[in-house]
Amino acid sequence: MTAPSPTDPRALPAMPRGEQVVAYRGSILTCRDDPKEARAPGRAVEFYEDGVMVVRDGRIETLGDRLAIAPWLPRDLPVIDHSGRFLVPGFVDTHIHYPQTDIIASYGAELLEWLERYAFPAERAFADPAHADEVAAFFLDQLLANGTTTALVFGTVHKASAEAFFAAAQARDLRMIAGKVMMDRHAPDWLSDTPESGYADAKALIDAWHGRGRLGYALTPRFAPTSSPAQLESVARLMREYPGVHVQSHLAENRGEVEWMRQLFPEARSYLDVYERFGLLGPQAVYAHCLHLDDDDRARMAATGTVAAFCPTSNLFLGSGLFDLAAADAHGMRVGIGSDVGGGTSFSMIRTLAEAYKVVKLTGQTLTPWRAFYFATLGGARALGLDDRIGSLAPGREADFVVLDPTTTPLMARRLARAQSLEERLFALVMLGDDRVVRATYVQGLLAHGTAPEPFVRP
Ligand code: GUN
Ligand code: ZN
Repeated sequence: MTAPSPTDPRALPAMPRGEQVVAYRGSILTCRDDPKEARAPGRAVEFYEDGVMVVRDGRIETLGDRLAIAPWLPRDLPVIDHSGRFLVPGFVDTHIHYPQTDIIASYGAELLEWLERYAFPAERAFADPAHADEVAAFFLDQLLANGTTTALVFGTVHKASAEAFFAAAQARDLRMIAGKVMMDRHAPDWLSDTPESGYADAKALIDAWHGRGRLGYALTPRFAPTSSPAQLESVARLMREYPGVHVQSHLAENRGEVEWMRQLFPEARSYLDVYERFGLLGPQAVYAHCLHLDDDDRARMAATGTVAAFCPTSNLFLGSGLFDLAAADAHGMRVGIGSDVGGGTSFSMIRTLAEAYKVVKLTGQTLTPWRAFYFATLGGARALGLDDRIGSLAPGREADFVVLDPTTTPLMARRLARAQSLEERLFALVMLGDDRVVRATYVQGLLAHGTAPEPFVRP
């Protein structure tokens, strides 16, 4: 980025009264594009070792090298000095279940047994709105403590679970997408809706919450085995009635699940084909896992713009399988990264990236540090169709960003001090980091978690 000259219209005006304008100093790291092809980041990654980012009223106004842009900043501009730390976009988690917060790390089962033993009983408690309120608040605090500022979130079958989540996200001014689960068969009575009630509840939730503040709605059929054909048709109808909403579900996670789906939908060519037959693919659709696919499935996902959410900690924890990133790339599939808490074992996108690296390694491929960082930021925003608002640090974007301190543990400080390049620093940060490196999380330019130095104004 080149600095504005003194006569350049980009030179910042003095601070008008009443507006919140603040400059943040730190090592700014952000993606412009997917660094897929390149080991060298080239134009895909932007980095200012000693950078400044100016935020006006919750949006990024400008950013760049400090020495280059400092002369054009108003003298009375307060500066918050995070130098020595990374300033990065808020992380984006493309698949997570807030009602499973309390059953994270539950021992010993594969998917279908895990659902019966742990997930369904935990979700039952969300019939109580007070419980939903309490968990939603804790869950969002966890996301912010881990630097995640946007997520695509499952509720439970209860309408009140989505209401509680949206209210909590609204109170924190967060950009979140969520929905009530739809599940009308092969589930306990106390956790089932009907095609009619699921449709009516989702419609009421969309009318009440979709597009309100920074919130969006996602139609949420749990997965093909727990939705009847009539319910899947009702999801397609809502997609037609509300083209702006997302759809989220699970796809081809576990071999037993795939076999069950085959018995329930014998006419379908594949698991993906079930969703396609009901019209549930498209650029607004995000399917978690996508492990047991064939190349025809991948080609259909790519052709329809359907997104796969790669959830490495969950896939390892539940013994589900290994996501084939090279095959997804070869077909041009859209991919995001998800924690999948509570099947996943960490709220941290940094931990999730570290496990993604190992999964990709086990399939004989590699995930560069640049691309890992991309997946947690701009890649996630693209997967959710939000990259014009979040996911990168650029003028006009919403100022959701995170301050990462690579010296928070003695081991990390020692390892990073030896690093010869930014790439090596970033890789060690990803492999060793977790919520301890998140010094501060900002939402629309306001401190939402952690600590920050007092603003400094030049005398
Ligand atoms: N498939 C259907 N429901 C679930 C769930 O809650 N978690 C995971 N990991 N997979 C699912
Ligand atoms: Zn899931």
